[in-house]
Order: sequence, then C-alpha cells, then structure tokens
Amino acid sequence: MKWTANWIASARDFGEVCPVFEKRFQVGKVKRATLYITAMGVYEATLNGRRVGEFLMAPGWTVYEKRQQYQSYDVTALLKPNQENLLRVTVAAGWFDPRLGWDYHRPATDAPRSLIAQLELEAIDSSRTQILTTDETWRVAPGKLTFCSLYDGECYDARRPLRFEKVTVQKLPKRQLIPQEGEPVRALERLKPVRYFTTPAGERVLDFGQNLTGFVSFTVTASAGQRVELSHAEVLDHDGNFYTDNYRSAKAKLEYRCKSGKQTYTPSLTFYGFRYVRIDSFPGEINPDDFTAVAVHSDLKRTGWLSCSNPLLNRLFENIVWGQKGNFLDIPTDCPQRDERLGWTGDAQVFVRTACYQFDVERFFRKWLRDLAADQEPLGRVPAVVPNTIHPFSGGHFAWGDAATIVPWQIYLSYGDKSVLKEQFESMRRWVDYITSVTTTPFLWTGDKDAYGDWLALDNDQDSWKGSSDFDLLASAFYANSTLLVTKAGRVLKKDVAAYEALYRGIVKRFKETFQNFHTQTECAVALYFGLAKEPQKVADQLARLVEENGKKLTTGFVGTPYLLHALSRNGHTDIAYDLLLQENYPSWLYSVRQGATTVWEHWDGLKDDGSFWSAEMNSFNHYAYGSVADWVFGVAAGIEPVECEPGYARVHIAPHPDERLGWLEARVNTKYGRIRSKWEQIEGRVRYEIDTPVPATIVIADRTYEVGPGQYLF
Ligand code: BGC
Repeated sequence: MKWTANWIASARDFGEVCPVFEKRFQVGKVKRATLYITAMGVYEATLNGRRVGEFLMAPGWTVYEKRQQYQSYDVTALLKPNQENLLRVTVAAGWFDPRLGWDYHRPATDAPRSLIAQLELEAIDSSRTQILTTDETWRVAPGKLTFCSLYDGECYDARRPLRFEKVTVQKLPKRQLIPQEGEPVRALERLKPVRYFTTPAGERVLDFGQNLTGFVSFTVTASAGQRVELSHAEVLDHDGNFYTDNYRSAKAKLEYRCKSGKQTYTPSLTFYGFRYVRIDSFPGEINPDDFTAVAVHSDLKRTGWLSCSNPLLNRLFENIVWGQKGNFLDIPTDCPQRDERLGWTGDAQVFVRTACYQFDVERFFRKWLRDLAADQEPLGRVPAVVPNTIHPFSGGHFAWGDAATIVPWQIYLSYGDKSVLKEQFESMRRWVDYITSVTTTPFLWTGDKDAYGDWLALDNDQDSWKGSSDFDLLASAFYANSTLLVTKAGRVLKKDVAAYEALYRGIVKRFKETFQNFHTQTECAVALYFGLAKEPQKVADQLARLVEENGKKLTTGFVGTPYLLHALSRNGHTDIAYDLLLQENYPSWLYSVRQGATTVWEHWDGLKDDGSFWSAEMNSFNHYAYGSVADWVFGVAAGIEPVECEPGYARVHIAPHPDERLGWLEARVNTKYGRIRSKWEQIEGRVRYEIDTPVPATIVIADRTYEVGPGQYLF
C-alpha cells in the first residue's frame, strides 16, 4: 500500500467540536473498493450513510509518532455505482488527547484532528485502479459531536446542521503509517438493565448487573432541543446512592440534545467503565427497556474456562474474565473508568499469564510489545506506561519495566512462535543492560528508590500505597528473572548469551548471600518463585507461617500476589494456597465477591466491611491485577501448564492439585492443537481425574508421572 493521499484538517479551529470530513463522488461499477484510512484522533467513517466496518476507536493506540496504524476496509458493498456517493468521517480526540495521563504532550497529541484516507476502486475487468484521496477537494464541517473525550464523555447535538467548508492540506508525516497489527475493537456484548430504581438521594438509576467497559445506547421520543443526560458509576455508596468520586477528574458523562421524534443514539468514539447509569435528564417517561449497555473491547477469541463446585469461586472466575474484557481495549490498561486508563507495564506483566489462558492474546500483546520497544529509551529504560503519556523520563522501575522480558517470554511459551522473541530480543536485552547501568551494587539491583514497590500491599501503614517489602530485595529478584529470560530467549534464538548467563549466576549467588531474612509474604513469595532462596523449604515454611499467623489471610500487593499461591504449592503447602483462595473474609478474592463484585478490584478493601470505601483517590473496581490468581487455578489447581521445550502446547504438563474443600474443578484450554481439559472430582474420599489432551502430555497425579500420547484419560 502506497500513500498518495495527504493529511487534511479544518482550515479554522473548531475548538472542542469534532470535525466531520466529507467527499462526494461518482463511480461506475467496480470489482472491488478498498478504503485505507487513519486519523490523528479516533475516527468513524460512513459510506452512503452506512458505517464502514465494525472497528470502534480506530485507529487504536500506539506510539503514534513512530507507529500509527491505518485500517483497510472492503467497502464494495456500500458503494452505489453510477450515482453520487457520500463518504463521511468524524474524528474525535480519542488517545490523541493531551489530557491523557499526566499532561505529557507528545508531538502527535498536539497535531490538529486530521484525516488521511485513500479509496481504491478496482475496475470490473481489473484493467485499472482509480484512487480517490484526501486532498483540498474534501470539505469539513463542525459536527454534531460538539465534545468528545475519553475521560469526560461526550455531548452530541442531533439538531445541529452540518455546514461544510474548506479543508487545508496538512504537512504531517506519513512514514509512521503501518497496517493494522492488533485485534480490532468491537461492540461485543449487549446487556439490558436488571433493575431500575430511585436512590435515597432521589436519583433515577439503571443497574446493568455487570461492571463493564463500553457505553449505553438508548431510544427516546422527544421534541427538538430536549436533553438526555447520563452519568456513569461502578458502585453505589454505603447509603445506596450513586458514587463517582473514584473517577477522580474524569466526568464520564453523556449529554444528548434531541432532534424531534423517535430516535436511537449509540456513542462510538469514547467509552466508559460502569455498571450503573444515572439518568440526570430524560424527556418523558423512562422505560428501562429503552437502554442497552454495550460492552466494547478488543475482539479476542476466548480460549480458557474454569468452573468448580463453589459458586463464589465461579463468580470470581467470571469477574476475572470481565476484568480482562474491560481492560483489553486495544492496549492492556490498568482500569477503564477514571482519569487513567493507561498501559501500565506492571499491571500487564502481573496479569499476562492469566490473560494467555483466558483469551488468545498473541496478536494483542505483540502489537503492544512493539510499542513498548518503540517507547523504550536508548539506554533501555522502559516507561511506566506504554504508550508513554506520563513524562518523557518516567519509568525504569522493577516489576513494571520487567514487562519487557516477562510478556514476550510468556507469549512465546503460550503460543510457541519464536518470532516474538526475535522481535523483542533487543528490547529485553536493553532492559537488563539498563538495570546493570543504574544499579548501585554489582549483581544486585539497589537504589530504585522511586519504584512502586509491592503496590497496594497491606503490610505497611494504612495510608501507604507502597507495601513494606524491601525494594532492593524485590528489585534484585526481578533483575535475576529478567536476566534469566534474556538467556532463555537468547538460547531459543541461538544467540551467544554467555555474558548474560554469567550475569545471572552472579546475581543468584549475590542474592543468596545478601538476602537471607524475609519479612513479608511478598518477599518470601518472590524469592521462592524466582528460585532465589538459599534455603527454599525454610522460606516456604516461613511463608506458610506468615499466612497462618495472619488468620489464613494474605497481605500481598501487585508484586507478590501473582506468585503467592505458586510459592506455597511448589513447596508442599498447597493446602495453605487453598486457604487463601477459599478465604471469604477480608482481605481475599472471595471477600470482593461476597461484597457483590462483578469485576476484580484494585484494592483488597475497595469497599470495606462497614460499607465505606477506601480513599476515592485510588479505588478502581475494575483493575485486573489481582485476577492473576486465575493462572494458579489453571496451572496448579487444574494443573495445565505449557512447557518450555515444546511451547505453544505442542506438549503439555498436567499436574492437578485437588483440595477436599472443593467437590470438583474443571479447566479447559483451547490451543491450536485442540482442547486440553483437566477435571477432578471428590468421590467418597477418593479423587477421580479426567484428562483430555490433543498432544503428548506429562501427567502427574499424586506424585506419579505418566508420559502419554494424545487421548482421553481417567485416573
Ligand atoms: C495505576 C496502577 C499502576 C500504578 C503504579 C496506578 O495509578 O492505576 O495500576 O500500576 O499506578 O504504581
């Protein structure tokens, strides 16, 4: 595809009003019509009044200056041969808004809302291709969408006439334009309200029964100029009133000015994270059936399912799936509702193993990893969020920057294609080199003072966001792990990684000498999981004791939680891992379920036992990080794990770990070779195992190992 089109924008400043570009044209009958298009902003195109494609929030979010996706759509069926055709494109700010993140202006976000498009029309006999491009013959009008932003929502005025005027051709670069790499974002599910009620404060509220990411579509009969105003919220407060403080500065509103008559409106250039909708104004009577919540996310194929005999756990599994849907909207985000919605590297790293079980995320993460590499500094520092919207020099912290090594390795393990390692190897290696260049102690990583630490752990002062685990210990453990992953990736790629192997041996030795006392659950879990404890059994027993002494409850934050159950079950304490999984009192996964959660919370105590909230400052009810527990359920409880020597499930390791407190548990994982299934059931004091494998498998049941070929097995 060669771009001959030019970028165009409105000749004058439309302020906050979104531009609508248009081109009228005639064509004869064509064999095929393809529209190539992208914008500095998110766009929606229609041809002869019909939407072009189903991709929402196109062109998606990338490091725009270096890599901006364009989409191509087959629009043959939308064309009217030998008549006037009308192509219209609305452009809103989307991720080009400098308000995203912490006011870090990038060149792309300061560009005007511009459009580039090329319509290629192939003649019936394929003899020639006519190309129609954005140029000075296009026109533009201030649109009906008078305001549209990710954080604040939108205003749409259905009455507003479109008055078209001249465009200007922009001298904006084109070399960064790349074809679509990720999975398209689409409207994927529709939910009806489960309840319509009036709160004690007199607010009219719809409850969709599920915290989700997307928007509300509604039908209204009105006279021109009447308003529909909606606010969005994830939860109700202690008194049952609508609660939006945790959205911080994000207004998350919708304001619609009606035309006259019956009309349906569906947003498409922004999204909200919500379960409840407050109807602030609405002409006439409210019929809940006139409202539909539309769930919007990257169109990923579901690959993994968990179910068991405990209904609370089943709800948790559902919540984790919804957490992934709601936060996999073109990039992996921390949360979808407040004034953040950013590609936090730490969160992605924490959740990637679970993500790979639940959905096919190979393309999704490979796109994001290219952005990670594109935003990585020459010296290897990885920004805290990708694409970076915080500060040109943010990041470089342990457990966050390590997404550079952990994510590509996991994608390789789960899908088996070594080209991901080939593509990311330089980025992986540079991350490790960066650590080596900044640490204040050779073979350890010390001095990362501004790190996030064991984020939101419960083992520090009440108000502290950072847990009390030792930064140097955790940082050094991640340094070891990232170095190890570079050596593994290097060996897969047949590179000489002798220097990294030596570095790894050095870090392990130094770690074991330096860190022999562990003070927190996270310190123990991380040292055990990464194989760095000098006396692993002693540390595992200490970890088990720490959990027991805390009333069989965890204290871990983002860094320790994903490893906690693994560290226990790998060292003879599977029963304690189950204690944590099945714990129903605060703090625990099932506590949130008992409190009515339909997604995974950012804080263990997002909503406290007494009905009050954790501070509004940092309290998302849709943060996937703690959903990382599902990887233990798939990988240990059901026991399905990919293996390094034959990645992508060309071979599988299946070692289920049942527990008497659960009657049965089943996991299914679809791979490119077929479905793997592992189920166990307690029957009169004995355990019955059913295992299906489409590939050779190593099955470990009650410490006995069976090497089997593809088939169905009963133990
Ligand atoms: C985000 C987190 C993120 C953290 C970094 C928060 O504001 O929501 O999920 O990892 O900052 O400490």
